[in-house]
Amino acid sequence: MSTISDGRSNETVEVFDQAATSYDRTGVSFFGPFGVELVRRAGIRPGERVLDVGCGRGAVLFPAAQATGPTGHVIGIDLAPAMVTLTAEDVTRAGLTHVNVRVGDAQQPDFPPGSFDAILAGLVVFLLPAPGQALHAYARLLRPAGRLAVSTLAGQDPAFVAAMDALAAHLPADRPRPAPGTDPFADDCAIIATMAAAGLAVTTISEHRVESHFRDVDHWMEWMWSHGGRALLRHIPADRLDTATTEAARALEPARLSGGGLTLTTAIRVTVATPQPTATRPTESS
Ligand SMILES: C[S@@+](CC[C@H](N)C(=O)[O-])C[C@H]1O[C@@H](n2cnc3c(N)ncnc32)[C@H](O)[C@@H]1O
Repeated sequence: MSTISDGRSNETVEVFDQAATSYDRTGVSFFGPFGVELVRRAGIRPGERVLDVGCGRGAVLFPAAQATGPTGHVIGIDLAPAMVTLTAEDVTRAGLTHVNVRVGDAQQPDFPPGSFDAILAGLVVFLLPAPGQALHAYARLLRPAGRLAVSTLAGQDPAFVAAMDALAAHLPADRPRPAPGTDPFADDCAIIATMAAAGLAVTTISEHRVESHFRDVDHWMEWMWSHGGRALLRHIPADRLDTATTEAARALEPARLSGGGLTLTTAIRVTVATPQPTATRPTESS
């Protein structure tokens, strides 16, 4: 099984490994509904063979397993060992004998060409060192009528953006927030071009919103530590975390509900694509 060597990606995997115990387990509706929507848009049918890349704690994997039923097969891969261990335990507990979870690299999944009817990638492709190359690899792993379904972020709540900025202001000077690069999933046009370059033809792009509710700012911080937000939080010096949290709380005020608590809205895009005929696919080296 190949692994990634990119330093930023190793850090990403370390962050998710540390977050695995609480990931999607803080009582906040976020990954679950997005995972259900991804599987629904992919149109997974009973008996199909499905790969879920970057499976995390199974927000996509479990709905996919339900959709294929026991006549199908679902394989989940993730590079964070703790995600794999905990999700495999959940699979065993649920008695899903048609589901396997293993350590594997979403950048370059190690399976023979034409192995899958569908490949699902929930909120992961933008974390990879080379998303275009990963998509190209997925195109090869699909059967001719197979589908790739990918979810990417489409919009963050302005209060969330402001709170992230407030936290990032407390990062040490030698650990600045990475500057945003060109986003290959920035909008519909970028997505269509990115998919085409990888040998995939887009069939649909749809947008979905989820409202996430938090009891208070401490609950929001608990949620932030439980997912990719941890990548930022863990570099804030311990003696600055209280001040950073107070300033994030101030930034979150517009999201406060009259009866208490906070609500943040997040939008994702779900893109479904099919492999283009082999003759028009780019070569391996492109
Ligand atoms: C934001 S989470 C999404 C998890 C799940 N798909 C969901 O929707 O909840 C990203 C996941 O991708 C995994 N990941 C990041 N880079 C990866 C890579 N190169 N190969 C496999 N998994 C990776 C992380 O460990 C994490 O579990």
